[in-house]
Amino acid sequence: MSLPDVVETVAGLQARLDAVRATGASVGFVPTMGYLHEGHASLIDAAVAADDFTVVSIFVNPLQFAPDEDLAEYPRDVEADLARCGDHGADLVFHPSVSEVYPVGAEEPVVVGAVGGPLEGASRPSHFAGVATVVARLFRIMGCCRAYFGEKDFQQMAVVRRMAVELELPVEVVGCPIVREADGLALSSRNVYLEPGERRQAPVLYRALLAGAAAVGNGEADPTVVVEVMEDVMSEAPDLVVDYSALVEPDTFVMPGRITTGAEVRLLVAGRLGRARLVDNVGAVAP
Ligand code: PAJ
Repeated sequence: MSLPDVVETVAGLQARLDAVRATGASVGFVPTMGYLHEGHASLIDAAVAADDFTVVSIFVNPLQFAPDEDLAEYPRDVEADLARCGDHGADLVFHPSVSEVYPVGAEEPVVVGAVGGPLEGASRPSHFAGVATVVARLFRIMGCCRAYFGEKDFQQMAVVRRMAVELELPVEVVGCPIVREADGLALSSRNVYLEPGERRQAPVLYRALLAGAAAVGNGEADPTVVVEVMEDVMSEAPDLVVDYSALVEPDTFVMPGRITTGAEVRLLVAGRLGRARLVDNVGAVAP
């Protein structure tokens, strides 16, 4: 499979998009921070299947990293990324510099609503403002398109959906299922930080989520009991420092008082294993 074209400027990207749209073609957009794996590739596959022209952006967004986080060592391999984009049929890769994305310097962050408050929002206070700011900017640059996001970052997807509606951006946000390793660990660019012993413990997050989802499926109606089930499983991993485990309503991110019959809920966990911060989630439906 041939390599996709690469553009590094907003003007270059928009010239290509104008030409594409002039033919009546639909545009799919997959925003990423690079170091692409099969999880990212599944988003590209979804875009290629549904849209006529697929753009992947590769941009490590400084605004969404706190000063004590891993911006400097965030893994990068643009050559391998371009090959993977080509293999999966992406048409164009947008690989801008920081000054191209933020030409007037640090912007006023886009305000994040209530869905961005708890969980990731509480653990990483400036993170979602940084995500919403860059994604709003990318959406404005892209114009009308379908944008593909992974359920892996379930709360990020909710924040982005809300932001697109609030700013009236002509973008349809499409959610895509989580791609996992055979042992259940969700694929993540940050999994490279795991030492072998930590890697062996990492699937505990997914096992905890499955145990929680099974409890919901068996009729457990008390969210705090479901959270205890997940915490019991996670305590089996000696090196895991749990950040949170939660059960929320998927649209509001509020923990319900009781899980009502037929309700759809989302179970989410996050924790640290050595240098890696891992997040994962599953959906569950009450009987
Ligand atoms: P990044 O972590 O590179 O992820 C890009 C997209 O890939 C996100 O939508 C993420 O949810 C999805 N993804 C990652 N791992 C996945 C997996 N195992 N299965 C399915 N999808 C997966 O998320 C970001 O970048 C940034 O915050 C970004 C939105 C690009 C803004 O900077």
